[in-house]
Amino acid sequence: MRAVQARIETTLSMLLPAAENIPVRLHQAMRYACLNGGKRVRPLFAFAAGELTEAPSKRLEIVASAVELIHAYSLVHDDLPCMDDDVLRRGRPTCHVEYDEPTALLVGDSLQSLAFELLARSDPGGQFADPVRQLEMIRLLAHASGSNGMAGGQAIDLGAVGRSLDQPELDLMHALKTGALIRAAVMLGAMCGKVLTEEASESLDRFAKRAGLLFQVVDDILDCTASTATLGKTAGKDALADKPTYVSLLGLERAREFADDLGKQTLDSLAIFGERGQRLVELTHFITCRNF
Ligand code: IPE
Ligand code: IPE
Ligand code: MG
Ligand code: MG
Ligand code: MG
Repeated sequence: MRAVQARIETTLSMLLPAAENIPVRLHQAMRYACLNGGKRVRPLFAFAAGELTEAPSKRLEIVASAVELIHAYSLVHDDLPCMDDDVLRRGRPTCHVEYDEPTALLVGDSLQSLAFELLARSDPGGQFADPVRQLEMIRLLAHASGSNGMAGGQAIDLGAVGRSLDQPELDLMHALKTGALIRAAVMLGAMCGKVLTEEASESLDRFAKRAGLLFQVVDDILDCTASTATLGKTAGKDALADKPTYVSLLGLERAREFADDLGKQTLDSLAIFGERGQRLVELTHFITCRNF
């Protein structure tokens, strides 16, 4: 994990515009939002899925960075006063607090554009041998980020404040706002290598969907059980803001049981891969047992 995390840090640092490039403030803020923090869970999923298809690591670096840029953008916007209004992220002031709101808005816009620029780059090093597959990857990330993915989930989240959702509605909100991007990370990682059989690809997609939902269920639980110091973001915000979460729906104990069951189902969907799925098994344990 540490090797992939370090590699993503280096890659992002190289790919992001230099801090002294005009407009300096925007570029500094983009670097602030992406570097020196974060668990890099989505890149870890991309690399682990890439192992299933013997994907070249140079290609994985690109797709993992693209997904992480979209994730960083989603956090910057998620923290804005018009959304969750948070002041702490990854143990530091949120982007709009450290800089200002218009800059934070543009950071999100620019990180999103950079992600697609990266995936669409013409390919001097032969990273993406197959242009049809490269286009499909761009489409997949776009779908996962937009109104039928992350942004759509955020819309449901904002529209649901102060209302109670039933479980199917909450499942959908979580699957979109967080699940979609994790699912994309897994599928894009696998698409960097050899083509999977239809059966294997369906199993991997089932795994990715479950892992994505699981990640947000655990995020809900941690919001009410972990401290601000460990989380690096303000704890207890969901209850304070009257957000619908698995904890508000089921209570803490049942939310934990739900996460355990979902964790088992998530692992079940890896059975087809045997030993080769070991890294994904370990990552599933990590996202279930994490304390931040
Ligand atoms: C937090 O994501 C926001 C959610 C989608 C739940 P992470 O927990 O992956 O945040 P970082 O990247 O590690 O800070
Ligand atoms: C965030 O969900 C989902 C996205 C950023 C797309 P949360 O609002 O629960 O994330 P945190 O808890 O602020 O990290
Ligand atoms: Mg939010
Ligand atoms: Mg939030
Ligand atoms: Mg949260």
